[in-house]
Amino acid sequence: MNAKPLVLNSVQLAFRNKLHKEVHNYRLALRNFSCTRIRRNTPQTSTESDTAEEKPLLKFRNKLLNGPNLKHFFKDEHLRDQENLPEDEVIPYLQDINRYTPNRKVYFDVYGCQMNVNDTEIIWAILKENKFERTPNLVDADVILIITCAIRDSAEEKIWGRLNYLKGIKKSRLKDRPSLKIGLLGCMAERLKEKVLEKDGTVDVVAGPDSYRDLPRLLALTENNQRSVNVLLSLDETYADITPVRLNEDSVSAFVSIMRGCDNMCTYCIVPFTRGRERSRLVSSILREVEHLSEQGVKEVTLLGQNVNSYRDVSESDSRMDNVTSLAKGFKTVYKAKKGGLRFADLLQRVSGVNPEMRVRFTSPHPKDFPDEVIQMIQSHPNICKNLHMPAQSGNSAVLERMRRGYTREAYLELVKHIRRYIPQVALSSDFICGFCGETDEEFEDTITLMEEVQYNTAFLFPYSMREKTTAHRRFQDDVPPHVKQQRLERMIQVFRQTALRLNTAQIGKTHLVLIEGYSRRSKNFLQGRNDQNIKVILPSSEIVPFKDGSGAREVNVGDYVAVHVNDANSQILKAIPLYLTSLQDFYAEGYLRSAVKMQL
Ligand code: 5AD
Ligand code: SF4
Repeated sequence: MNAKPLVLNSVQLAFRNKLHKEVHNYRLALRNFSCTRIRRNTPQTSTESDTAEEKPLLKFRNKLLNGPNLKHFFKDEHLRDQENLPEDEVIPYLQDINRYTPNRKVYFDVYGCQMNVNDTEIIWAILKENKFERTPNLVDADVILIITCAIRDSAEEKIWGRLNYLKGIKKSRLKDRPSLKIGLLGCMAERLKEKVLEKDGTVDVVAGPDSYRDLPRLLALTENNQRSVNVLLSLDETYADITPVRLNEDSVSAFVSIMRGCDNMCTYCIVPFTRGRERSRLVSSILREVEHLSEQGVKEVTLLGQNVNSYRDVSESDSRMDNVTSLAKGFKTVYKAKKGGLRFADLLQRVSGVNPEMRVRFTSPHPKDFPDEVIQMIQSHPNICKNLHMPAQSGNSAVLERMRRGYTREAYLELVKHIRRYIPQVALSSDFICGFCGETDEEFEDTITLMEEVQYNTAFLFPYSMREKTTAHRRFQDDVPPHVKQQRLERMIQVFRQTALRLNTAQIGKTHLVLIEGYSRRSKNFLQGRNDQNIKVILPSSEIVPFKDGSGAREVNVGDYVAVHVNDANSQILKAIPLYLTSLQDFYAEGYLRSAVKMQL
């Protein structure tokens, strides 16, 4: 019998070539997988059946069988390519990756920092693309995803409590509904994967911060009552190609993630272990997202990262490719100086240029990454907000050394003075930890005097919580008793409140530019917005307000910039009356931002 020669068209040929490459990669990956994972016998990516009671070898064999296989090494684009192939060319196992019920309703339960809110928007974008729906009602959900935080023990405690509550809901689910699936995502996932899966049947999926692309597959596995885990950390995952779908699409402000992970290794901090190495997203993809937000009418973007101002896009060709990262004076790092790439100051300039009417903020920075280029950029661009978060953590040099922060009290104070010389209207905020290992009364007193000297508008204050894996856990003793930590915390709160009240009261009688966010939480008779310094401002809602020249009087809307006259204040908010509607550029053209000293580089 004559075999019919197989003639391939160009699409088929391209697909074949890709396929061969993938099979080659797969073989390599399989070889690495069997060398490293089998020897260590601790697979990081695995799926677990409910009956994993077998002997270790059998258990591991099961994990291999249920774990990633050839199909997981194929990318989605190949699945799409298949649509162009004749039926007999379609490879069946490439299709069943998508075999989960469409329109499953997902409920998000978000804990922790703003980074988690933005991660949730990325997760939602991935799931939406895979035909999931979102529900605001927990009882309607088919899938509940908890986006977790592990930074302090209290954060984890909250989540254990929540899991107990959800266990009850899961059990009481009516038999005629598909069983409820629960996913534990984010920072706690990597840390506690075994504990979570071993505890009881509450959690079905565990996924770390770099595994969100894998969620549709992990959730598909749960439909066969399997429990699935992926907590692999990545060196390059930035989700750059995913446009987050905002959880609150009506909001005038949005978060844009620009980098992930942290290389600083402060001795108290779990973040480098839960979120992995520092990596930056390409500037082109950040700008695309900011442009898209601007087109949607967003008026304020906050650039996000664990260490936002050490941003460095090495893919950008830059005339200063051999430039060494410049640090603020008196600051050092635990890692070798990084060379080349586009830096945070350049990124700030480009982002602020997208729309001069859009405010730009960023969080959370490290004080070491405030070289003069960054200060000058903030000073010279009216839409980069004059509000800097400068986490000091402690006011005592010996404690800072034990924390491995890379600066002394004196260097920090010098930096604050330097910044205030060039940006006199700047509002500063900070994080402080009290009761770190070995902190004496005298050392703690230095934190209090630093707070009094700097005068922060906002402060985030924490009692130290020892975390496993951190250097402090290995080297030091968590020897400050809980009641002393509590007393010190209360003292910090008291000092902070006094200062904030003083600073806010000093604004009475002054004019501020406020971006209106919506009604005040307490009453529809009031609107709330934020001034440039990120202080909440409350103003009456039903006033008819004109533009500065007296024209176009109307009610104030969400997204308006309004010049206001501050007439009252407490330690948390300013109260004001609206003066006139304006634009960001017009307001600052009136000279509100004139700096004491112009910075020349
Ligand atoms: N205990 C208490 N606070 C901590 N932070 C980080 N790790 C710990 C810990 N182990 C605080 C730091 C950091 C903020 C995000 O959380 O102040 O800046
Ligand atoms: Fe943690 Fe320090 Fe990195 Fe901040 S800079 S995330 S405190 S290790």
